Amino acid sequence: EMDPQERVFQQRIDTGQKIEPKEWMPEAYRKTLIRQISQHAHSEIVGQLPEGNWITRAPTLERKAILLAKVQDEAGHGLYLYCAAETLGISRDQMYEQLHSGKAKYSSIFNYPTLSWADIGAIGWLVDGAAIMNQVPLQRCSYGPYARAMVRICKEESFHQRQGFDILAKMVRGTPAQKEMVQDALDRWWWPSLMMFGPSDDASVHSAQSMAWKIKQNSNDELRQKFVDQTVPQAEYLGLTVPDPDLKWNEEKGGYDFGEPDWSEFFEVIAGNGPCNAERLGARRKAWGDGTWFRDGLTAHAEKVAARRAK
Ligand code: ACO
Repeated sequence: EMDPQERVFQQRIDTGQKIEPKEWMPEAYRKTLIRQISQHAHSEIVGQLPEGNWITRAPTLERKAILLAKVQDEAGHGLYLYCAAETLGISRDQMYEQLHSGKAKYSSIFNYPTLSWADIGAIGWLVDGAAIMNQVPLQRCSYGPYARAMVRICKEESFHQRQGFDILAKMVRGTPAQKEMVQDALDRWWWPSLMMFGPSDDASVHSAQSMAWKIKQNSNDELRQKFVDQTVPQAEYLGLTVPDPDLKWNEEKGGYDFGEPDWSEFFEVIAGNGPCNAERLGARRKAWGDGTWFRDGLTAHAEKVAARRAK
């Protein structure tokens, strides 16, 4: 039997009303949102690292300015999302602590290395492309602050996706070595990009409840299918080969059939054992440590000002 307060809450969700910070909500709804929004924020923050790696080596001044702006956008996305999570009663320090201790997850995709300039194109095209596919429906999420944060984030993500595609479109018209570099980037980023959508529906522990609460509007497999259907023609346009021997147009379903990602690799990466997990977390912990003197200074100053006022 659902308790009456919970029944009213579910009715509000079912009729498409937004839930706002100070309103009553089931504890499990609050917890699920804190988990998802904070993981999303951490992903944006950690996501700066693989691309930041190429800012000093961008091939032209224009590419450098564009990449710099994009990486700054990711920082901004992280900050809006931390703010949205704070409205649910968790502090930013608590969220950082969860990230730095390895307790909180962040997207699996950011634990892979960026080996060439083509990887920066592939990240924009595939990783930001997958992020948009996942985040557009989140604009309609039942929790108001998260839904509203997504509107601006999605606009910026579309710019990111196009800048990535543009890098690759230029490179595939370049030398054979450049074209090879692009194919190599696609070979390495394709499967990890499909894994961004999360485990298959039968292994997704949170999907059913999150969909009933309209936190998620689509299942992981639905969004993965949409991403493949959208991206394969773009790969063809670039003259590239998607590294999946099982990829085949299925006329009946009006979409592609495709192979199964290597789920054991996915679970290893989210357990902390991907190629770059230690490096990524190390960089975040170092940044936090390097900022200690500044936080201490701010606190000392705030205390002095408060003491002076109290006199
Ligand atoms: N990377 C890391 N962890 C993942 C991933 C992934 N790609 N996919 C699923 N997981 C984790 C879940 O967080 C969950 O772990 P937890 O219980 O410890 O939190 C577990 O795997 C089981 O997965 P699901 O039950 O399917 O989890 P959920 O319903 O939360 O769905 C999803 C996962 C689709 C990623 C969802 O959380 C979501 O939409 N998040 C918001 C978008 C987001 O975080 N994007 C970040 C990458 S995009 C970018 O930043 C550029």
